[in-house]
Amino acid sequence: KPYGTIYEAIGGQEAVERLVEAFYARVGKHPALTPIFPDDLTETARKQKQFLTQFFGGPPLYTSEHGHPRLRARHIPFEITPSRRNAWLECMQGALNEAEIPEPYRSAIFDRLAMTATHMINTPEEGK
Ligand code: HEM
Repeated sequence: KPYGTIYEAIGGQEAVERLVEAFYARVGKHPALTPIFPDDLTETARKQKQFLTQFFGGPPLYTSEHGHPRLRARHIPFEITPSRRNAWLECMQGALNEAEIPEPYRSAIFDRLAMTATHMINTPEEGK
C-alpha cells in the first residue's frame, strides 16, 4: 500500500469511533431521521464503526461479522427519501467537523459518503 489508507491517515480506530459517536448523537435528534432509526442506537453505531473502518481502508470488520455489505439491499426496509439522504449527510458533515477529521480527508470522506447516500434513495419525496 504505497500511499497508505484514509483509515491510517485520520488516526485509525480512535478517529472512526469519535466520528460515529458524533454522527449518531445527531441522527438521534434529527426529526427527519428519528422515525426510521431505533431509539437505542448502540448496535447501529457498532455496525457503522465496523463498516466505516473497512470503507476507509482499515480491516474488514463489517464483512467478517455480517458478510458482504449489500448496503442498498439492507436499506430497502426503510423509506429513504431525498430529504432523508440530505439529513443523513447533514449529520455526517457536523460529525466530521466535531470529530476534527482533518482536510483533505474530511472532504474526500464526505464526497464518497454523499455518493453512497444518493445510491441509498429508494422512495420518492412524500407527497410527490
Ligand atoms: C443501517 C438509514 C445511508 C451504512 C441503517 C438503518 C437505517 C439507515 C434506518 C438501520 C438501523 C438499525 O436498525 O440499526 C440510512 C439513511 C441513509 C443511510 C436514512 C441516507 C441516505 C447510509 C450510508 C451508509 C450507511 C451512506 C454507508 C456509508 C449503514 C450500515 C448499516 C445501516 C453499515 C447497518 C446495516 C446492518 O444492519 O448490518 N441505515 N442510512 N447508511 N446503514 Fe444506513
